[in-house]
Amino acid sequence: MADALRVAAKERGADGVVVLVLVDPDGGRLPDWTPGSHVDLVLPDGSTRQYSLCGDRWDAHAYRVGVLREPAGRGGSAWVHDELAVGDLVGVGGPRNQFRLVPAPRYLFLAGGIGITPLLPMVEAAHRLGADWRLVYGGRARSSMAFLDELARYGDRVTVWPQDERGLLPLGDLLTGTDARVYACGPAALLDAVEATCPPGLLRTERFAAKAQGAPVRDLPFTVVLDRTGAEVVVTPQVSVLEAVRAAGVEVLSSCREGTCGTCETTVLAGDPDHRDSVLDEAERAAGDCMFVCVSRSRGDRLVLDL
Ligand code: FES
Repeated sequence: MADALRVAAKERGADGVVVLVLVDPDGGRLPDWTPGSHVDLVLPDGSTRQYSLCGDRWDAHAYRVGVLREPAGRGGSAWVHDELAVGDLVGVGGPRNQFRLVPAPRYLFLAGGIGITPLLPMVEAAHRLGADWRLVYGGRARSSMAFLDELARYGDRVTVWPQDERGLLPLGDLLTGTDARVYACGPAALLDAVEATCPPGLLRTERFAAKAQGAPVRDLPFTVVLDRTGAEVVVTPQVSVLEAVRAAGVEVLSSCREGTCGTCETTVLAGDPDHRDSVLDEAERAAGDCMFVCVSRSRGDRLVLDL
């Protein structure tokens, strides 16, 4: 559910990037969060957009998000840039974390552009924990790269890699043979290249846009059993599991409806999901014990869900 928070500050973060600070209008504490978390901002038309929290997680009274203007986007970033003003109230849902930092002795953080935002609190956490870490931060040009001033305090653990000065990130050099936990966030082309280069089992990514998916495994209807009532719902190829379950009168929380935010995560009790989200890693997919019902489907003719 979304609470109304007040925009306490709105500042330029870099070319095309604004940084918002959101507070409780009554000065209250905000829900706790962990590095990698995002919140939903609710737009005037009721749709939502997800933005990573990039402030100080130990400050219980303020959330900070960075928003890149995306001219080819669906209008959310333009509204934040052009309409949303200091003092306004905005609906905020979450926080929610689908990009958790797992304990490790060594980390490699890879950021592309505004993908730096979830990595800022991760870097801070890794630093506090005394882990061996490195951040490589790529962007089109220095002027488009937010938070460079804050990152300067980490010295040579941070490598700034503006494309107009240094070219593309040297992913082969960075990733070949690494044994570090790799956390990457940025544009799809960067994340696809990181996935293709990183040794297996080490990578976590967060995507702002849904990853391209092939056709569903199954093009026939399947049955979803709602375990709490025993009701059976037929999901035809034309609708999502989320839509079919809702039509049967069972409410499931959702936000992005494209498999990126994690809001609609549902426990799978039996059956074999056809994962079509952009959240789970390979091991989580193989486990098959949860799915994102806004996009994921079934490989077989029956799925039993904890609904
Ligand atoms: S609603 Fe965002 S992943 Fe399903």
